[in-house]
Amino acid sequence: MAPHKHNEQDDELTMSTNELLQGQLELYHHCLAFVKSLALKAATDLRIPDAISRRGGAATLSELADEIKIHPTKLSNLRRLMRVLTTSGVFSLVQGKDEPCDGAAAPPEYYELTVVSRLLVERSPHDLSPMVDTMVDPVSWNALLKMPEWFTEERPSGLSLIEVAQGCDFWDTTVGDGGKFSGGMAADSRVAMQVLLKEHGGVFKEVKSSLVDVGGSHGATATAVAKAFPHLKCTVLDLADVVALAPTNDRVTFVAGDMFKYVPPADAVLLKWILHDWKHEDCVKIMRLCKEAIPERDAGGKVIIIDMVVGYPVTQQHDSKEAQAFFDVYMMGMDGIEREESEWSMIFSEAGFSDYKITPTNGIRSIIEVFP
Ligand SMILES: C[S@@+](CC[C@H](N)C(=O)[O-])C[C@H]1O[C@@H](n2cnc3c(N)ncnc32)[C@H](O)[C@@H]1O
Repeated sequence: MAPHKHNEQDDELTMSTNELLQGQLELYHHCLAFVKSLALKAATDLRIPDAISRRGGAATLSELADEIKIHPTKLSNLRRLMRVLTTSGVFSLVQGKDEPCDGAAAPPEYYELTVVSRLLVERSPHDLSPMVDTMVDPVSWNALLKMPEWFTEERPSGLSLIEVAQGCDFWDTTVGDGGKFSGGMAADSRVAMQVLLKEHGGVFKEVKSSLVDVGGSHGATATAVAKAFPHLKCTVLDLADVVALAPTNDRVTFVAGDMFKYVPPADAVLLKWILHDWKHEDCVKIMRLCKEAIPERDAGGKVIIIDMVVGYPVTQQHDSKEAQAFFDVYMMGMDGIEREESEWSMIFSEAGFSDYKITPTNGIRSIIEVFP
């Protein structure tokens, strides 16, 4: 039979009304997905989670407006913002049980915190609001808007997306940001380490006596490890500018330096959210220096990586798969990458390591122990 010749009308003809409507709905939904991010950022900046928390965990619209000092003429706009945030699960909207007051037809509705917004309450031990500031940021936004230009540029190894957009690399944008990036990293570390030390503490417990956290920023991760395992002498290596602003801490020793030149010796090296910033060849260089810094496997030497392994855990839900894909393209902005297991494995063998073990967490990151 002769192959069916495609003509442009086929697509139209083969789409039912329902398919057209569904396609249009999904398309517009994707187009406006950024509204979700920006509404989240607005709620974080307006400290709406704190306001609800101050009200004992539930607030009506007017109580909320009162708490965050919104002009009464903006009340209906606040309700619209909260509608985006309740439909996306950042807050929940519940019907009050009280009798209607002031002649109202129905009992008042209350906004409550969900598992998402409980992570945005300031000064709680799991406050992740600095990460919202770090991730929903015009630098990344502008970089990703340059994708079409960047993908089609002629040079084989050109500039990163951020360099195309900003004229400087990602690390330059963090210098002089008033500690915004380091603050985000510290917040992430405090929350991540609460979970990792509780669920997978054995990974650190078996380290003999010393650990160096390479690219350890202001020491939040190393401090959490040192508190949980006081037998460990913990050192943080980071760039001089970063170390200079690190809060003093008697549990951790800070060393200013360049991880491409030197890694201080220790029984174990920790790399949390480091290698996803760098290209394959750079990761091999860093891992080679890490290997030189630790003893042989028989003597307890290992590198502990906390990063994503795309596709892990294998049983992950749609949200988790999508979050990994989002992170990967977000990292592409700064020439970083979220790697699949085969890509990790190549780095380890090229850097001279003999074996590795991946322990997926229930979130989107994994712990990878790499052995000399
Ligand atoms: C994504 S942050 C991760 C921070 C920390 N490990 C965490 O997870 O919270 C990357 C860190 O690597 C540091 N860094 C970048 N280049 C470096 C270099 N050449 N030598 C040492 N540290 C470096 C940055 O200053 C930053 O603190």
